[in-house]
Amino acid sequence: MTLQLRVYVPPHPLIKHWLAVARDAATPSVLFRTAMTELGRWLTYEAAREWLPTQETTVDTPLASCPATLIDPSVPVAVVPILRAGLGLLEGAQTLLPLASIYHLGLERNEETLQPSCYLNKLPEKFPPQTRVLITDPMLATGGSMLKALEELTQRGVDPSLIRIVCVVAAHPALQKLNTAYPGLIVYTATIDGEVNSQGFIVPGLGDAGDRTFGT
Ligand code: PRP
Repeated sequence: MTLQLRVYVPPHPLIKHWLAVARDAATPSVLFRTAMTELGRWLTYEAAREWLPTQETTVDTPLASCPATLIDPSVPVAVVPILRAGLGLLEGAQTLLPLASIYHLGLERNEETLQPSCYLNKLPEKFPPQTRVLITDPMLATGGSMLKALEELTQRGVDPSLIRIVCVVAAHPALQKLNTAYPGLIVYTATIDGEVNSQGFIVPGLGDAGDRTFGT
């Protein structure tokens, strides 16, 4: 079986609603941040399916014993927000993954070359085996930033099949690159847009997510 990138666009009314709010150029920063938080929450909810480790046990109800499933706290779970814009999605993700460790990764694209460079790296030297990693970044445009993040993670022992990417707008060029470099990777996104313009902006996209989140 040949592995292929899997991209899920959950058909959820709350995801569609908050995407529409985020896309609208008239949305002010305060509401844009709410949209990012909500998209982070609902896309993480979807991504946690068949990813968050569980353990089987039994519980005693007031009436009888019955089989039960709990989240397995012994398997490490990490969230890696790509700064700055990935911080907007982190808040919603954290409400669902309260035990996750948060490792910040600051990446900035050069405005002319569109090449990412790393200005902050809080990743551990090595991740324990079996660590589940959720990466948050609202935009996958050329894909350069996400490839850089994946390189940093896999160099530190993370298994790509245990990674989930949560983004808001994924563009074709980024998805093609990810498919070539990491077949088998799983992406959750609110939408897929076709085009990236010569300035590196996704069209129609939602503009500069970092600037809109932080009002800069
Ligand atoms: C944006 C965005 C992604 C990246 C996507 O960040 O948040 O991280 O660009 O582009 P790519 O797929 O072409 O690499 P930016 O560098 O503008 O930084 P910011 O989040 O601080 O605004």
